[in-house]
Parts: sequence; C-alpha cells; structure tokens
Amino acid sequence: PSPRLSAVRGEIVHFLADPAADPRALEHFADGVLIVRDGHVAECGPAAALLPKLPAGTPLADHRGKLILPGFVDTHVHYPQTDIIASHGEQLLEWLEKYTFPAERRFADRAHAAEVAGFFCDELLRNGTTTAAAFATVHAASVDALFEAARARRMRMITGKVLMDRNCPDFLRDTAETGYAESKALIERWHNRDRLLYAITPRFAPTSTPAQMTLAGRLFNEHPGVFLQSHLAENRAEVAWVAQLYPQARSYLDVYARAGQLGTRAVFAHCIWLDDADRRHMAETGAAISFCPTSNLFLGSGLFDLRRARALGVRVGLGTDVGGGTSFSMLQTMNEAYKVLQLAGQSLSAASAFHLATLGGAHSLYLDDRIGNLAPGKEADFVVLNPRATPLLERRSAACATLEERLFVLMMLGDDRAVAATHVLGVPV
Ligand code: GUN
Ligand code: ZN
Repeated sequence: PSPRLSAVRGEIVHFLADPAADPRALEHFADGVLIVRDGHVAECGPAAALLPKLPAGTPLADHRGKLILPGFVDTHVHYPQTDIIASHGEQLLEWLEKYTFPAERRFADRAHAAEVAGFFCDELLRNGTTTAAAFATVHAASVDALFEAARARRMRMITGKVLMDRNCPDFLRDTAETGYAESKALIERWHNRDRLLYAITPRFAPTSTPAQMTLAGRLFNEHPGVFLQSHLAENRAEVAWVAQLYPQARSYLDVYARAGQLGTRAVFAHCIWLDDADRRHMAETGAAISFCPTSNLFLGSGLFDLRRARALGVRVGLGTDVGGGTSFSMLQTMNEAYKVLQLAGQSLSAASAFHLATLGGAHSLYLDDRIGNLAPGKEADFVVLNPRATPLLERRSAACATLEERLFVLMMLGDDRAVAATHVLGVPV
C-alpha cells in the first residue's frame, strides 16, 4: 500500500512537447522535487519551491546526483521471445521458423507462460520500462499470463493474442473465427481493467488469410479504445512475399488498410520499406510506427527513415522488439537508433531520443494524457538513472559541460546498470 503522499528529490528531466518541434519542450530541474499523491504526480518543480510546501512527515527519497525521468515506453516487444534473444545467424523469415515458432509453442503450457511473463515484467522494470506494447502468442492463456503478471506489478501493459491462421506450424494456428472469438473474450476480460489494455494482434499479413485480416479489422472497429499491433515492411523477402500473397493490394500497408486495420491506436513495428503514399496514409489515419533499431540491425532488416516519417506527420515510438531485438534496455535502444540514423545522415539528438523513449512513445500509443512525462495528474511512473553507474560512465559524465551531453553519454554508455530505481505509480519496485 502506497502512502497517500510521497516525494523524491533529484535532477528531473522530462518533456512537455516534442523537442524537435519546440526548443522549450525539455523541462529540467537541476535540484528538483517530484511529489506523488495516490500514485499520480501532484507537483514537479524546483526543490527550493516545493520542499517548504511538503507536509511534515512526508516520505522523501533523496536521489541527488541522479536523474529522475518518466518511465520508458517500449512500443513493441514479444514476451514469449525472452528466451530466444541472441539467437544466431538468420534473417526474419528463417529466424521465425528456426527459433521463434518453437519457442512460442511452449506457451501452450500455462505454467511456462506464467514463469516467462513474471521474468519479462521484472526485466522491463529492471531496465526502467514501465509501459510496453507486447505480443503474446496464439494461445489465449499466454495473454492471461502476461496481464496477470503486469497487474500484480501494477504496470501499464498492452498485449493481445496473436492471430495466425496460415503459413505457420499447425501447433500455432488458429482460424479466422476462433481468433476473432478468443480475442473478443479477452477484450471483455481484460481491456481497461486496472492499467491493462488489449491489442488485437495479427502477427503480420503473411500469416493471416484475407478472411482473418478482415475479421481482425472488424473487431478493431467494433471496440473503440482497443489497440491493434502488427509488423509492417520489415524485411525485403517478407515484402516480396506479401506482394505475392495479396496481388490486389497497392502496397504492404494497403493490405492492412483494406482490412480496416488502420486508425488511432494501430501500431506497426519496423516500417522500413514504405513509400511516401504509405507514410501519408499512416499519418492521415493516425496509425503509429514502432522503430526497433536493435532488431533491424540484428536481423539485417534495413534502416528506418525517421526523418521521412516525421516529415509526413506519422507518430513514431521506439521498440526493443525482443527477441529480434537484442536488449531490453531503452537506453541501448536509443544508442542503436542513433547509429541507424547516422547511417542515413540523420542526427538524432539526445533530447529527441529520450523524448521518443518517453512522451513520444506515449503519444504514439495515444497514452500521453496518462503517462510519458511528469506533469501534474500523470501516472507517477518514473525511473532514477545513475550517471556514475560504471567507472566509464562516471569518467565520461564528469567531462560533460551540458545536460544534452550528459544525456547523450547516458544513452550511449548506459544500460540496466544505470537504472538505480524504477517507480510504478509512485512506488519503488
Ligand atoms: N514479423 C512477424 N513476426 C515477427 C516477429 O516475431 N518478430 C519480428 N521482428 N518480425 C516479425
Ligand atoms: Zn516484433
């Protein structure tokens, strides 16, 4: 049980808007205090102004020398792939067959699902991630397992049952009708219960029949407020396969569009091989992209064009995409995002990277009214980062002159070791 009122003191950094659009978006209190009431941010500001106002006896955790930021938002990750992270040697389609499908088969066993779900949530929190949009498997009970694990930890979690009725092993196959019915039952059981949100989850166009795609789109439109998550234009062989499977579609994105799957709260991972018509279509419908740099490099998928997505007004968040991705750490994900963009001559500022990992991710998921920064009224999910967590971090941070430099060093050299504490609804976990 959380005390009604508590406070933390440290160097506070968060965003009030997108720093790429508004140079005053980053708010910084070198000696700041964050006051939490009933799990929500009551106030956030300079210690000198807020400390005198704190009622006597309010618990105050002193994190001076450390940074306090909003909890990270991982907009695309697969909890059943926790155990195949770092599997060698393949690109997407072969990697799915060789590693992913066998790993996902094990989630027919509820006890296994529960054990992995618990580890997964703990690992997110250890890395400072307090909200994720996660794939489960085709098994409805794998969704129950993750929601139960997240609920026990009071986390905001989005997940859903994978829909897959062709081009996959029998042991992972549903049907258009059972997929629809089971997803609908899961929506009724879980969506909006505590902090949990449901995502209709067609794996990707190749593993669903047109009939399943249509029913998934119908379900999405029948349940306003529910999410839809999938993969889009990740790998060139995949894109060619989709063109064969759906010859009538103008593009890969058009397959989802024709099935009624674009709209607000639709999130598509990767989106490397899109054209501007696709990007415009995503922007117009409010669909979001999850940029997954560690996965895109690890699976050799390609280089995401953030500048173009931004220029055309598409919402973008960051995703780890574990186990195609190689780290649960959003700091490491920012590091790789920077490098991917370097290869395209695009320079990602530290402010933009931290924005993507917090408020930008929340905005891409239409959750920025509840999470993503430390504005009054927001859910008090935050992370305490130690810029001296390792000898190298300490040495390099000491040589920094500006906040931007310190944030950049943290995202390049930091990982779970830099996470001193993670708070969910104001409470350290
Ligand atoms: N496309 C379809 N399924 C997957 C998956 O599990 N991971 C990734 N990275 N891409 C996919
Ligand atoms: Zn994925």
